[in-house]
Amino acid sequence: MNVLGVETSCDETAAAVVGPDGVLSDLFYGQTVHERFGGVVPEYAARAHIEKVGATVVEALARAGIERPDAVAATAGPGLIGAVIVGLCVGKALALGWGVPFIGVNHLEGHLLSSLLEPRAPEFPFLALVVSGGHTTLYRCDGVGEYTVLGETLDDAAGEAFDKVARMLDLGYPGGPTVDRLAALGDPNSVKLPRPMPGELSFSFSGLKTAVRTHVLSSARRSNEDICASFQAAVVDCLVTRVRQAAHRERLERVVIGGGVAANRGLREGLLKSGLDVYLPTPSRCTDNAAMIAVAGRLRLLKGQRDPMSVVARPVWSVTQGVELA
Ligand code: KG4
Ligand code: ZN
Repeated sequence: MNVLGVETSCDETAAAVVGPDGVLSDLFYGQTVHERFGGVVPEYAARAHIEKVGATVVEALARAGIERPDAVAATAGPGLIGAVIVGLCVGKALALGWGVPFIGVNHLEGHLLSSLLEPRAPEFPFLALVVSGGHTTLYRCDGVGEYTVLGETLDDAAGEAFDKVARMLDLGYPGGPTVDRLAALGDPNSVKLPRPMPGELSFSFSGLKTAVRTHVLSSARRSNEDICASFQAAVVDCLVTRVRQAAHRERLERVVIGGGVAANRGLREGLLKSGLDVYLPTPSRCTDNAAMIAVAGRLRLLKGQRDPMSVVARPVWSVTQGVELA
């Protein structure tokens, strides 16, 4: 079964085809319109998706060498509502026109299953750490659709903290990749920063962000490299500690990660050194992409799930809940 995936939940217009042997095509176009605003402007994001999504789908099918997929999977949320609606409507219309099954995918499920696209794919059960711009959640995954939340952030998401620190240092948006690059040039022990770990398996990054701000405001001469290295080391410490604690508690050594921050070199290194059985998606499949939506949809379709055309777009949607119908 070849499944077309469509993803437009934030600022990447993406389409991909995934078949029984893996990814046949995987395309994504970022939006430059947001750069001058220092963050994603929802209305512009939706409009840019409308302009690009048709051509992206056509190209994804052409590169996959197929005219019509056997099913269509589109992100139904969570995300910027106007942006989600664009891809969801396109996915439904295509499925209806082709007369093939349709499935509405939770974007977070895409992130937590993205390592299944790798040649060395994990078997269930596993722990999954999803660290993106909007979410930082640790799950136990016992099968497709069988997810339990073990812990999540009480305030900022990890990616949000990276972006806010980058903003304090005037590093542009999104800041995560730049902080990652500068961190490699700095000393992770140069700025003393806290490792907030509230409650059992929860995360908190707002205090850490404030500590970075206090340091930036109080130091006359600052090294962006040292600040980035120290901040990144603190985030990685918190994330890896929680993953190890969860592995111990759940007696589960197999761990996958997903979401934009999973591309972070410090986090990847930290997890690989943790002694756990770690599965990392290739960096381009950590950030938003449609191959992860296609694979999540494909696995649900193989389980017999089909969604009606009444699936609605949702700005907030836990991966532990089913689709919502109009
Ligand atoms: O998963 P994603 O592409 O979109 C969401 O679903 O949110 O994640 C985007 C987030 C942004 O906050 C971005 O700064 C962060 O992931 N990010 C990184 C890196 N690459 C992307 N953070 C740290 N290091 C990176 N290399
Ligand atoms: Zn995402």
